Amino acid sequence: MATEVSQSVRSRHIMPDWQVHMTDWIMQHYIDRGLSVEPVVLKSPPPPQEGHQYLLYMHVPFCHTLCTYCTFHRFLFKKYKAREYFKQLRTEMRMAKDLGYDFRSMYVGGGTTTILEDELIQTLELARKLFPNIKEVSCETDPKEIASPTFKNLKGLVDRMSIGVQSFDDSILKLSDRQKFGTGAEIFERIAACQDLFPTCNVDMMFGFRGQSLDMIARDMELIRQLNPRQVTTYPLMVTSQTNKSVKNVIAARGQELSEQYDTILNTLGKHYRQLTSWTFGRTNDEGIDEYVVDNDEYLGIGSGAFSFLGNALYVNTFSLSRYAQRIQSGQMGTERRRIFTPHQILQYRLMLAVFSGRLNRKYFREVHGVNLDTTLFKEMTGLRLIGAIRQDPDDPDHLIVTKKGKFLGLVMLKDFYSGMDNVRAQLRAPLKACDM
Ligand SMILES: C[S@@+](CC[C@H](N)C(=O)[O-])C[C@H]1O[C@@H](n2cnc3c(N)ncnc32)[C@H](O)[C@@H]1O
Ligand code: SF4
Repeated sequence: MATEVSQSVRSRHIMPDWQVHMTDWIMQHYIDRGLSVEPVVLKSPPPPQEGHQYLLYMHVPFCHTLCTYCTFHRFLFKKYKAREYFKQLRTEMRMAKDLGYDFRSMYVGGGTTTILEDELIQTLELARKLFPNIKEVSCETDPKEIASPTFKNLKGLVDRMSIGVQSFDDSILKLSDRQKFGTGAEIFERIAACQDLFPTCNVDMMFGFRGQSLDMIARDMELIRQLNPRQVTTYPLMVTSQTNKSVKNVIAARGQELSEQYDTILNTLGKHYRQLTSWTFGRTNDEGIDEYVVDNDEYLGIGSGAFSFLGNALYVNTFSLSRYAQRIQSGQMGTERRRIFTPHQILQYRLMLAVFSGRLNRKYFREVHGVNLDTTLFKEMTGLRLIGAIRQDPDDPDHLIVTKKGKFLGLVMLKDFYSGMDNVRAQLRAPLKACDM
């Protein structure tokens, strides 16, 4: 799989180090102030609001092995527990229906959502029956699962299958603890064999590993070009307080390398794909859900550890599997905790997502939030203009162009935000005992 990387992809820093560090610092400040949950224990999420549209998020927190860098909510797979859990998910889905919810799309995240295919199939069939308006279902899986002979049974039920590759480079697979899913060459062949089963196949890649040279990244992107999946996500490694400390210092690249690595991605993958958000690329502009929190203002989460964003609040489901089972048995949904945001915090969050998605429009803020973007978020907009992250579109007075620097800033901000969500996870995972897992 050796490929030569031409000098033309040589990359530069998109943003000086001090600006990256300052962004991390500012984000940390806001996250520490805004991202934690209140002590109140809720009986249920709020009902839907007239005229609002929602995505259904469903969490499957099981994996055959646990990757050291991964900060998502997941437990080691035990078949009997997972079977019970899927039944509970179906019960919770019916509760959402009884509460009045309807959905246009569904995102199943993990963990490894395909870990019990028969259960997943039953659950997706129920979702489509209860909510016939669902037009699009997205699932996440790993490169071992796709080699299973029964994987093709998901055809027709899943519109977008996202497969975590991270890198085709065997040394990075080893460093990131992913060699257990096969060599880069094996993973390439498996994806080539299965990607046409679904309308959209997304490949998750990662950068920001220590020792991941620009040539390695360019080679990965060249292999992606050859594979030609409909969608590619290039995540920067997020290291958080939850990441195993020894791993944190060994696998993460230093701050200043990140912008050069990102520039390499833009100079290689960006030449063949359309950039859909700061870290998602598509063969066309319409490749289905990319980052569901960007595409959907509001979503309801079911399952242990799922998040919901409803109205002006973030809701979090119990992280304990036994508590989740008890709640469902007693007729309560998994939603247990909440964080209410001020109107200004909501606008700042929407601005961050607009920069990240490259879709920054005054009309959205005016019509959806009833505010003048330039005056209500004056400080934030001035800062973005001054560092060259945005500029006025000369052809459309409502539209602001997010520059290359702005896209990198969006990536750093969302990376920091997701890492900050770990404050919430840490808070809710801390009291878990062996019987909760
Ligand atoms: C949560 S996993 C679920 C899918 C599947 N279990 C897998 O391993 O690919 C989805 C993707 O999140 C990304 N991811 C997980 N931990 C990450 C981290 N600490 N930083 C950046 N991306 C991460 C990886 O690209 C991974 O493929
Ligand atoms: S990266 Fe995927 S397989 Fe690895 S622990 Fe996280 S969810 Fe599980």
